[in-house]
Amino acid sequence: MGGPVIIAVDGPAASGKGTLARRLAAELGYAYLDTGLLYRAVGLALLNSGRDPADETAATAAATAFDAASADYSDPALRAEETGKAAGTVAAFPLVRAALVEVQRQFAANPPGDKLGAVMDGRDIGTVICPDATHKFFIEAEIEERARRRVKELQGRGNAVIPAQVLQEMKERDERDRNRAVAPLAPAADASVVNTTNLNADATFALAMSLIR
Ligand code: CDP
Repeated sequence: MGGPVIIAVDGPAASGKGTLARRLAAELGYAYLDTGLLYRAVGLALLNSGRDPADETAATAAATAFDAASADYSDPALRAEETGKAAGTVAAFPLVRAALVEVQRQFAANPPGDKLGAVMDGRDIGTVICPDATHKFFIEAEIEERARRRVKELQGRGNAVIPAQVLQEMKERDERDRNRAVAPLAPAADASVVNTTNLNADATFALAMSLIR
């Protein structure tokens, strides 16, 4: 009784889930966890040490050695497309996922800063990590629109991008996320599915808040 409120925000890349999750956390005064950063950190550790993210043994070792509490989440390399690709690769390995379960559940059960709730942004929060979450959202959008958003985001950070390549890589990552054997990307049976193809950030936020209240 009286445990923290847990809001699960799942969905594919550039669906608007991160924007929504951060905004919900700010509005409600809850802690926010971008769980993609954990997978990205494991992918980046492999890239930095010259190992192949597709090497399951190396990926499992990196995930097991990963110390979420002392990681530097401000490293810009974490946000790079190459790191996202590596994250998608390591995230398909069951032992990598298993190594990252506890840190996510701990965050939700004991939101840092004595906050009364946690907003968890990910792919399998509502299905695997926090199946008893208080509110569950699954945010999606058509892939062409998501690729457009990602191109804008990358260009905004000063990267030169080839839009067709961004779309192609997003398709590949979606494909892998949706079809992996463990914790595939899918809405929980009790999630509110929100399609943001024609919904801007304000409208998405307003809709989510009305569903929470
Ligand atoms: O938004 P984007 O997909 O670029 O990045 P992200 O949310 O940081 O996630 C990067 C990759 O990590 C995803 O493609 C997933 O394969 C994986 N991931 C996951 O499997 N489970 C999570 N809870 C979060 C991310």
